[in-house]
Order: sequence, then C-alpha cells, then structure tokens
Amino acid sequence: MRTDPLVVFTPSGKRGNFPVGTPILTAARQLGVDLDSVCGGRGICSKCQITPSYGELPKHGVTVADGALSDWNKVEQRYKDKRGLTEGRRLGCQATVQGNIVIDVPPESQVHKQVVRKRAEARDIVMNPSTKLFYVEVEQPDMHEPSGDLERLVRALEVEWGLKNIHADLHILQSLQQTLRKGSWTVTAAVHLGDSENPPRIMHVWPGYYEGAVYGLAVDLGSTTIAAHLCDLLTGEVVASSGVMNPQIRFGEDLMSRVSYGMMNAGGANEMTHAVREGMNALFTQVATEAQIDKGLIVDAVFVCNPVMHHLLLGIDPFELGQAPFALATSNSMRLRADDLDLNIHPSARVYLLPCIAGHVGADAAAVALSEAPDKSEDLVLVVDVGTNAEILLGNHEKVLACSSPTGPAFEGAQISAGQRAAPGAIERVEINPVTKEPRFRVIGVDLWSDEGGFAEATADTGITGICGSGIIEAIAEMRLAGLLDPSGLIGSAVQTGTVRCIADGRTHSYLLHDGSATGGALITVTNPDIRAIQMAKAALYSGARLLMDKFGVDSVDRVVLAGAFGAHISHKHAMVLGMIPDAPFDKVTSAGNAAGTGARIALLNRAARAEIEETVRRIHKVETAIEPRFQEHFVNASAIPNAMEPFPILNSLLTLPMVSFNTGGDPEGGGRRRRRRA
Ligand code: FES
Repeated sequence: MRTDPLVVFTPSGKRGNFPVGTPILTAARQLGVDLDSVCGGRGICSKCQITPSYGELPKHGVTVADGALSDWNKVEQRYKDKRGLTEGRRLGCQATVQGNIVIDVPPESQVHKQVVRKRAEARDIVMNPSTKLFYVEVEQPDMHEPSGDLERLVRALEVEWGLKNIHADLHILQSLQQTLRKGSWTVTAAVHLGDSENPPRIMHVWPGYYEGAVYGLAVDLGSTTIAAHLCDLLTGEVVASSGVMNPQIRFGEDLMSRVSYGMMNAGGANEMTHAVREGMNALFTQVATEAQIDKGLIVDAVFVCNPVMHHLLLGIDPFELGQAPFALATSNSMRLRADDLDLNIHPSARVYLLPCIAGHVGADAAAVALSEAPDKSEDLVLVVDVGTNAEILLGNHEKVLACSSPTGPAFEGAQISAGQRAAPGAIERVEINPVTKEPRFRVIGVDLWSDEGGFAEATADTGITGICGSGIIEAIAEMRLAGLLDPSGLIGSAVQTGTVRCIADGRTHSYLLHDGSATGGALITVTNPDIRAIQMAKAALYSGARLLMDKFGVDSVDRVVLAGAFGAHISHKHAMVLGMIPDAPFDKVTSAGNAAGTGARIALLNRAARAEIEETVRRIHKVETAIEPRFQEHFVNASAIPNAMEPFPILNSLLTLPMVSFNTGGDPEGGGRRRRRRA
C-alpha cells in the first residue's frame, strides 16, 4: 500500500505524512509547527514563507524530487511581482505536497520567533505578544438572517481563527460599518487575546488587509528618569527608545521626600500623579515621533517601577509606604486600560503593571527577576540593581530571596563634595600610581586619559566639572590600593602617605585629584566626608547581600550580576576593592544594563512571561532588612574597606591591599568611633 508523502519541518524537526495536495500551511498547523499567517491562507500576507530543500537529504532520511511541491502558482507570482519574494522561497499556503519534502521555516515566518539579546548569558525573548492581527472575510448582511455587523465579524474570527468570547469597545462599533463596507467585507482586526482577567477584545479594525504594524511600550518608570522602548509587536524590534526626567523631581529628589510631600500638602499625591502621567504622555509623543508612527497604533504598554512610583502612577497616595510595616495597596500585577491612567495612546490600549515583591521591592525588581531569571539559574547568583535603593535578589532554581537596602544617592554622585550626575565633563575613571601617588583620570565625553597628549584640548569645551558615581568609586578604591586610605576610611596626611596631594582639610585630610583653579576651573578633591558617604552606601549594599547569603545558608556566591545604568558603568574590580559586593572572581561579575527595562520588554512581547513572573514573585521570599538584627552587624563590618570581618580571599589573591592605619588618635572625629556611631 502506498503511504502518503512525508513532510519534514526544520528547525523544529516535526514530521508527518500528508495526502498529495495538502497545503504546507495546513500540514504545519496539523503538526503544531510554528508557521505564521495573518490572512488565513489567502495568499495576501506573505507571513507563511517557507524554503523547500531538494535532493539527497540523509540527515532527514529523505530524497526530495524536483516535483515534491506543486508548481509555482499565479498567487505567488502576483505576490512576487508586487512585493518581491526571496529566490527559493514559496508561500506555505499556496505550495501543496506532491512528494516527500523537507521544509525550512525561516525565523521571520515563525510566530514565536526569538528576539535575540546581545548578552550571551541572557535569555532570548520569544515572541508571543498579547495583541495579534487577523485578516477575515465577513459575511454580508442578509435580510432573511438578520444579525449585526459586529456579530458577523466575531463569528468570522471564531470560525477562521478559533477566537472565542470576543468583546469590542464602543469606539470599534462607531466605525465598524464603514470599515467593513470600505474593505468589501474583508477586514484586518487587531485582537488583544485576553488573559486571566479579561476576555479577548477587538482593539482596532482596518478595511481589507492591513500591512502595517501595531506597537507596544515597555516603560521603566524610575524616580529620576522615565525610559520608554517602543516595540513592533509583530517583529519584537525596538523601533525607538527615549527617556525624560521624571517631572516629579520638583516635588523631591528622592522617594521619601516625595512621600513626605504627599503627607505635608493636601492634594500633593494627586499633583505628583498628574505630573508623572503628563510626563509619560510627553515621552510617548516623543518616541512615536521618533519612530514616525501614529500614537494611536500603540495598543499595549507594560510598566515597571518601584513601589512609590507604582502607587503614584496609579493615583494611590504612597503614605503607607513611608512607614512600617510598609504596606502596599496591592502587590498583585495590574491589568488596566490606558485611559484609566490618562495615557494618550490607542483608546482601547491595555496596560500591564508587573507585581511588586514587597513594600520596598517593587515591580522593577520583579522585572529584573524576569530578565535575569535567578530562579532558573543552576549556580547561585546575586543580582544587584543599584540605584538610590539597591534591590537585591539571591537565588538559584531552588529558591530566590529578595531585599532592598537603602544605599542613598551617593553612588549617583550626590552627597559627594565634587559630585555630579554622569554628564560630559564628569570624571568617570581614575587610576592612581601606587609609587608616585599621582592620579590620572578620564572624563565623560573624552577617550583620552588626563596624562595623554591632547587631553587639555579635548576637554576644553566641557571642562572638568566634577566627579560622577563611577568616578568616586574608582577614586576611593585606587586610594585604598595606593595606600592613601586605610581600611577604616581615613585619608593619611602628606607625611604619612608621602604625597603633597594629601592636604589638610579641617581635622581630616583630602586627596587632590585635579586643580583647575589657575584657569578658573574646578578644584576636585576626595574628602573624608565623601569617603564616609560611599562607606555608608556600600555598607548598606553589602549588608543587604550578606543578609540574604545568611538566609540562604552560604558564605559565597557563584556569580554577581550588576543591573541598572550605574551597574553598567562601575568597574567590577573597584567595586570589589571597596567591598560593595561579595568576594567573587572578577570574570564572574557581569553587568546586565537596564535589566528592569529588559524585563518590561519581555513582559510586553511575551504574554506568557506575565503569568510566569507573577508565579515567580509569589515564590520569592522577602527579607526585611530593617528588622533583621544581623543587618546592623554586617553594616558595621562592611563600613571598613573592604570589610572588617569578611576575608575576601579571592580579592586578596588577586590584589594587595596595603596594611596602613592613619587613625593616630589626634583626630577627634576618628574613623572608628564615627563608624560605630553611624552604624
Ligand atoms: S498565509 Fe497569508 S500569504 Fe500565505
């Protein structure tokens, strides 16, 4: 008995026998092969492109004859003439099975294609957006069988695409009749596929076949900046990215001052809600303009933010987050409509907010967890998102712990005498010669080091204006490595250190990094109060991490991931010298960049990831640092550089930290006493 021809799909490897005449698209569907289609096999959309292979294919155990597919047909020719078709490609809905065949589905024809991320250790994003396009032919009205246009559209979507229980907003009805007639009873519908709380919903209807895209926004709402990535929901491509300062800054630089503003001023929280929504709308206009798209095509948005921003975005007074027990109004994920938040995008656009982990550990930390997936890691990974609050995750596939630690703004250059935000002219890299104690540095915007020819000319425009967060960390770590600074954080005198750059500064000393005063420029020194500010910040960061390690029952971690913009810029070696992060091989410390933004993008492009992170967050064990006695103990030890108690064996095997002590007793504000008091 003759068996039906064998059809083998790559790269999935799925195979099956199909009767002669079966369209390849049909075979793919029956086997569950990921082959896209918007037009339902009508030869209009070209999403179903495939590449057949011919000849001896021993790997698949098949020999493919020339006539294994039906002849090139008129529909394919018409498509090729009109839009072009790569040589060797066929339309899967037109080519039919005639003999044994091997079919490759190229990435652009896969619905669940992968959006490749640049970092090797990061997982790829698999496309599975909430909103998809469907082309349908709708029955015309019939007086003998009266039914509404919407009901016939819904029936077509159900019969052709298996979509059930579809709803539509009023604005769809307001234009549906004209759209259907304009398209001669064919339309393309953008349908939000629904979720655990909402049924599928028609978002937009275009006459005929709609060739354009629909878009979504991944928004990282930070207390300082708001960043938005505009993504094509069909390809996953980021078509524009932009950021603005959070307009709430005028109500307070840090989160707690904004909480206080709400407490001290009647209607203050509302004012801040209004400001952030207005800022967001301006940002959305900016990205849409940059991408040259209509804002009305933005049908989905995902937000990640810390708990205070979360509440202010939603119009909830964050008062309770300013005091123990730091109760959130809700920690669950939120599924809303854009107009609930006054967002000026598509009228039916959906908004998804990731769940918060705890009162101090927000949806941004959940997004980092989604991006870095510590819960899927074989080795024990510490993920640190460094900002004014450090959010810390520690875990592996067995369990994940989370906490937040109040690092304050020192890492961003605030509270530092010559500190400034990272901007052109700011010192960002520092090296100090351990023999001569002379520094050299680089400033943002110039590639040369300060001791290289042409540096003065290259910095003439920007000047050398101050020192940013990464610069101060390198400066302090280099001072420690050069023996200018002792483990308690005291800077030695000129006599003690052998360099006139260590200058008396009140009762302590400062290190002169740059003196531009002769030409009207800045005098940039690293002072003892600067060092104390960084000591406090790094002690808070380390203690949070160490506390999670205690709870996990470990003394070391396998790798460290630094997330956030700051994490991307600091030198891992210098962070380790300061004892900001636990001891680990330098090559096991990596930067994840804006992991919270990436997590938002994953949740935007893959709706299954939303359920996944909700489940992960439910399983994350939260640790509240404020009530853990060991946090204080770790904090005291971690105030030393790198640490008073922890041995840091890997660091010590790689670098020599000079054994110096500048606490001569002549300093009434001595480092040791000061540390104890602050701790
Ligand atoms: S499915 Fe649309 S062209 Fe083949």
